[in-house]
Amino acid sequence: MVRKGILVLFVALLAASLASCTPPSENSGDSGGGGGAAPTGGSSGASSGGEPIKFGVYGDLTGDTATFGQSMKKGVDLAAEELNQKPPLGRTVEIRMEDDGGKSEQAVSVVTKLLTEGKVHAVIGEVASTNSLAAAPQCQKEKIPMVTPASTNPQVTEVGDYIFRICFIDPFQGSVMAKFAVNSLKKKTAGILYDQKSDYSKGLAQFFKATFTQLGGQVVAEATYSKGDTDFNAQLNAIKGHNPGVLFVPGYYTEVGTIARQARDQGIAAPLLGGDGWDSPKLFEGAGDKLEGCYFSNHYSSESKDERVVKFIDAFKKKYSGEVPDAMAALSYDTTMILADAIQRAGGTDAAKLREALAGTKEFKGVTGAITIDDKRNATKPAVVLRIEGQAFKYVETVVP
Ligand code: PHE
Repeated sequence: MVRKGILVLFVALLAASLASCTPPSENSGDSGGGGGAAPTGGSSGASSGGEPIKFGVYGDLTGDTATFGQSMKKGVDLAAEELNQKPPLGRTVEIRMEDDGGKSEQAVSVVTKLLTEGKVHAVIGEVASTNSLAAAPQCQKEKIPMVTPASTNPQVTEVGDYIFRICFIDPFQGSVMAKFAVNSLKKKTAGILYDQKSDYSKGLAQFFKATFTQLGGQVVAEATYSKGDTDFNAQLNAIKGHNPGVLFVPGYYTEVGTIARQARDQGIAAPLLGGDGWDSPKLFEGAGDKLEGCYFSNHYSSESKDERVVKFIDAFKKKYSGEVPDAMAALSYDTTMILADAIQRAGGTDAAKLREALAGTKEFKGVTGAITIDDKRNATKPAVVLRIEGQAFKYVETVVP
């Protein structure tokens, strides 16, 4: 008993002395979910020493695609909280989230702020490829690693050797849905309606078309819209005239919901197909039941019985009052864990060494699958196809690259 008491006292003194080595302004994290630029993910319940590990996160918390940034923040915060139970290298993980409103110009300015004022050791974000493409050059210029959890457009990591992603890319995702349309749904014709202002949407449309055509299918109608549009009737009417077997809509949930509603109102009965951009708890706010029986590709299924996934979902629900994590949350959780793992392997936060360690990530066991970073700084991972049933996403199949 006495010995235990002494040990506790010793640990407490050690923690206090280590904490005092850190300037108070840099050690002010909490474990909460506060918004804005406040650091979160702090030091609850664990001793820590040395300079905190600072991750800057940027995403849309308030714009048209706000669930992307909100889910990203939740995933990152949960990972930071778990990491801080036993801080990597004894250094507390601090999260600084910046809202870019889903706009590229703002993404550039908040990332610049994270790099210069925040002096972050790594940047996590964005979700939308267009925003990642806008801000990645800042990280590359400052030589601070950026890891996007979810931007799937191939060009993102081509920005430079400091830019990484932990998700699959759109040539693969497009082929998954094209093969699904031809092989599983037995459809030979497709219409495509994509967002011409989105690199993601444009790219995915093109990659879908390439595989669909290669498999003997024919794209009979193509039309475009722009982010923020609310009336798609002219495009849908033109598409309807060609009577496609499927309608591929590689967009984000906000517009997809409205497109689905207007397509059904016009009498288009073909199944709508899409990509990961459909994944949001808010998809049904626009779509109602108009996406019943439609399909999209995604990074993970919350129905998975994998032990790691089940544990993650339990922890997430516990922290966020029962909410089931979407793919964004899962990918962002994995991103944070991979960064911590790389920092551990690098023995610190030196940017060049961290970059090397990230590039050497092999078979990291994430909740979104095993992650190996290839020589283009991308991850090769399976995709899942999900079917919309009664406002839920039902697992259909896993497609391996
Ligand atoms: N892949 C999309 C893009 O690159 C972003 C996204 C990923 C959206 C996952 C939702 C879920 O723009």
